Amino acid sequence: MKGLAKLTTTPKTEQTTHAGLQAWVDEVAELTQPRDIRWITGTPEEWTELTDQLVEAGTLVRLNEEKKPNSFWCASDPSDVARVEDRTFICSVEERDAGPTNNWMAPDEMKAIMTDLYRGSMQGRTMYVIPFVMGHLDAKVPMFGVEITDSAYVAVSMLVMARCGEKVLRKIEETNASFVPALHSVGAPLAEGEQDVTWPCSDTKYIVHFPEERTIWSYGSGYGGNALLGKKCYSLRIASAMARDEGWMAEHMLILKLTNPQGKVHYIAAAFPSACGKTNLAMIDPTIPGWKAEMVGDDIAWMRFGEDGRLYAVNPEAGLFGVAPGTGESTNPNAMATVNQGNSVFTNVALTDDGDIWWEGMTDEKPAHLTSWLGEDWTPESDKPAAHPNSRFCTPIAQCPIAAPEYDNPDGVPISAILFGGRRKTTIPLVYESRDWTHGTFVGATLSSETTAAATGAVGVVRRDPMAMLPFLGYNATDYFGHWLQIGKQADASKLPRIFGVNWFRRDEDGSFLWPGYGENSRVLKWIVDRLEGDAEAVETPIGLVPAPGALDIDGLDVTEEHLAKAGAVRPEEWAEELPLIEEWFTKFGDELPAELWAEFDGLKARINAA
Ligand code: PEP
Ligand code: NA
Ligand code: MN
Repeated sequence: MKGLAKLTTTPKTEQTTHAGLQAWVDEVAELTQPRDIRWITGTPEEWTELTDQLVEAGTLVRLNEEKKPNSFWCASDPSDVARVEDRTFICSVEERDAGPTNNWMAPDEMKAIMTDLYRGSMQGRTMYVIPFVMGHLDAKVPMFGVEITDSAYVAVSMLVMARCGEKVLRKIEETNASFVPALHSVGAPLAEGEQDVTWPCSDTKYIVHFPEERTIWSYGSGYGGNALLGKKCYSLRIASAMARDEGWMAEHMLILKLTNPQGKVHYIAAAFPSACGKTNLAMIDPTIPGWKAEMVGDDIAWMRFGEDGRLYAVNPEAGLFGVAPGTGESTNPNAMATVNQGNSVFTNVALTDDGDIWWEGMTDEKPAHLTSWLGEDWTPESDKPAAHPNSRFCTPIAQCPIAAPEYDNPDGVPISAILFGGRRKTTIPLVYESRDWTHGTFVGATLSSETTAAATGAVGVVRRDPMAMLPFLGYNATDYFGHWLQIGKQADASKLPRIFGVNWFRRDEDGSFLWPGYGENSRVLKWIVDRLEGDAEAVETPIGLVPAPGALDIDGLDVTEEHLAKAGAVRPEEWAEELPLIEEWFTKFGDELPAELWAEFDGLKARINAA
């Protein structure tokens, strides 16, 4: 253990009239012993001061003002590049309430371990207090949080990702509101005179949620999903527990506004596991004439019933924390236009010689020379990627040229359809429609995908990822399925979103993709919207309804009939192999799995066997 600078007094700041908040800030300062305390206000001057300081420290590199104004390159410690699911815990009072998909430890036991870790953990550092609201400050029930962190990188990133600062704090005070306390430390105290590293973090990591107390404790990592606590930790894990208790839904879904050539608007939500193209679909550039797409959100949807009985979705975030590689002028021009406006932080991408950024897939031609995310010289001959596969852009939604104005509407948008998709080489067709909400819940509960670089661990392995929420569930998975079914029971069925399954990633025998994806996915969206409008034909299959021959608009599409048929096929022999995998997945839940889902499984099995 290194010799830590001894503080004789704990810095005090009396910054708020909210007694509960002040007491918590004082208590954390007492425990973690920061050098000083700074309350985040959200002014442009503050942003400049913090980013200047991070540049001075070597954490950020300011990019070329002409290419990326007010923007920064950042390289993390090579060990701290993704969410750490094996270090993520739901510390509910009862173990059952975290099970069986989450890591669990008794709250008292976890608090004892982490209190020891936090003791003195901010020595030599500034402690930032960040009041924030997920969703809108003018929401009927504003969803407040306060993050305490010893990372200026986290403070800067939170300023992009959430509505933060003085205005939020004043409203917390005026309404004497409760808030989610979210404590974060990189776990790297500095001894007096010790030279800091550019990305402080610890080998010991804990990402911990106390769902009954609506509290988050994070230690040891500076990476987005582990450290920007308003995002996955609050808006999915804690919020899902709130939603269960209060009859709403907190989901890992993008929100997309579609306008058809007749001017009719539909909003759809779509759940895909991490790094399966949610940001690309959220910003789709439709290839079919007359259709318009606008983005409301790219990662999280909070859905509540409106007075008219429909489900309304809000994007709780103010920024995009997107996977950079694969985002390019041809695949996602809207994302490129968003980051090109600047005011962004790029983490673990490559740096060009003229002070801009680059990542695999940004341009067809690779730059002749780069500085890789590891800080090494890179040329197209290098055997390592220039950008880490989970490198990210952190950029304001408001800059997106196709941001729908409704993203800033406190009441959200009414959802007409929900899509479940994953990355599957086989079995899952391009698109199919579920028969009803219960069947759609089954489609979501059995969602599967090949793993990606968004989390540490092996890549390319098929895993079940129910509703794309496996890493983000804040409570028992069978209760979560039950909550979905309950939502269907309490609603007027005719007003519920229709539920669809999609798979853009099916492959031919030679490994090539059968469907071009990206902007061409608008053809699938068109079929879905036409279904909602009663204008598209479908045929029954054992797994649900698929486009009738000719119902999918392929006008001008450069795909052979053979590939199209293979992309959309429902093959009983593939499903015969899938059924035991679904059965194995459901069996993990024992007799707590809702009977409706077993009934859906039995029905599917009978139809496949009869096919
Ligand atoms: C994150 O890890 O911060 C994140 C946004 O998660 P993901 O893209 O994996 O959903
Ligand atoms: Na902000
Ligand atoms: Mn996500």
